[in-house]
Amino acid sequence: MPAIIPLVARLNDWETAQWLRHFETAFPNARVAPLETLTPQERAQARCAIVANPDTADLATLPNLKWVQSLWAGVERLVRELPDDTIAITRMNDPQLAETMAEAVLAWTLYLHRDMPLYRQQQNTAQWVQHDVTLPKDRPIGILGLGTLGRAAATKLRSSNFPVLGWSRTPTTMPEVETFSGKDGLDTLLSRSRILVLLLPLTPETTGLLNAERLARLPQGAALINFARGPIIETEALLHTLETRHLNHAVLDVFKNEPLPPTCPYWSHPHITVLPHISGPTSYETASKVAAHNIRTYLETGNLPPIVNRSQGY
Ligand SMILES: NC(=O)c1ccc[n+]([C@@H]2O[C@H](COP(=O)([O-])OP(=O)(O)OC[C@H]3O[C@@H](n4cnc5c(N)ncnc54)[C@H](OP(=O)(O)O)[C@@H]3O)[C@@H](O)[C@H]2O)c1
Repeated sequence: MPAIIPLVARLNDWETAQWLRHFETAFPNARVAPLETLTPQERAQARCAIVANPDTADLATLPNLKWVQSLWAGVERLVRELPDDTIAITRMNDPQLAETMAEAVLAWTLYLHRDMPLYRQQQNTAQWVQHDVTLPKDRPIGILGLGTLGRAAATKLRSSNFPVLGWSRTPTTMPEVETFSGKDGLDTLLSRSRILVLLLPLTPETTGLLNAERLARLPQGAALINFARGPIIETEALLHTLETRHLNHAVLDVFKNEPLPPTCPYWSHPHITVLPHISGPTSYETASKVAAHNIRTYLETGNLPPIVNRSQGY
């Protein structure tokens, strides 16, 4: 009898079909099935489930659930909404996702580094104006969050000769990267980062982390890339630092409300580039393999992969 693994997700039909198709290949000895197709007896057998934006009321219909494997890397909503802390949560930790995100960090860093927003604006008014080029060695990049994604991004930026400064909750080291932790470490990193990249999880501690005071610590003319979560930056403070031109430009991929409402002033702001949450998309192919490996190991050995620390929120 193949193990039955419920898929508890709020996805559209096409996305659900993609996941099921990829799990058939990645996990041929199991039957990954949408929760709604399972009988009460089948639900009672499940000790683990695959989740993507699950309704926690649905998870409550799995009486023996011990562990969930998220298809997403960011799990702040699941941590907030799943009151039963006897259920362990594993977030998606996929090397391919880290590589894709690192590529996006490099791409949008180069967009800012080579003044592309400015040249686009000049084209709109037929202005032929050449600006000096800064060498990568003279443009330090600060990365907030030195986890799976932050480290991959740091490596990619170093390979293009940008000096990299990284900030994490606990002190850490990384070759060729200057590392910082703690509030004082954050202040130092901000004061030296000409481009700031956010790759932090959203937790009570990181919500509103980039307030007016911290944004003001960035050097005059710095730029910012938020690939983490919208509420890490205070909206009013961001708009103010852009309007006073202390901050030159912001590339925003993530927002408090997604999709970003058409009335949001970000859309038409000359110094904001809006992206529709595309910096680090989950790959059906590789993420299904990662999830299948974790579940297979759990079913065979009882060993869980790394799980979210509920008190830290990530
Ligand atoms: N835009 C997208 O498409 C997209 C895609 C995937 C993920 N994301 C976002 O990226 C986030 C990071 O992913 P990840 O896989 O790199 O996570 P991760 O491996 O858990 O790393 C998180 C990093 O943030 C640090 N951190 C957490 N709280 C902190 C705090 N209060 N102060 C300082 N540093 C703190 C951690 O410090 P320690 O090293 O000390 O633990 C760690 O270095 C996700 O949570 C998600 O929100 C976005």
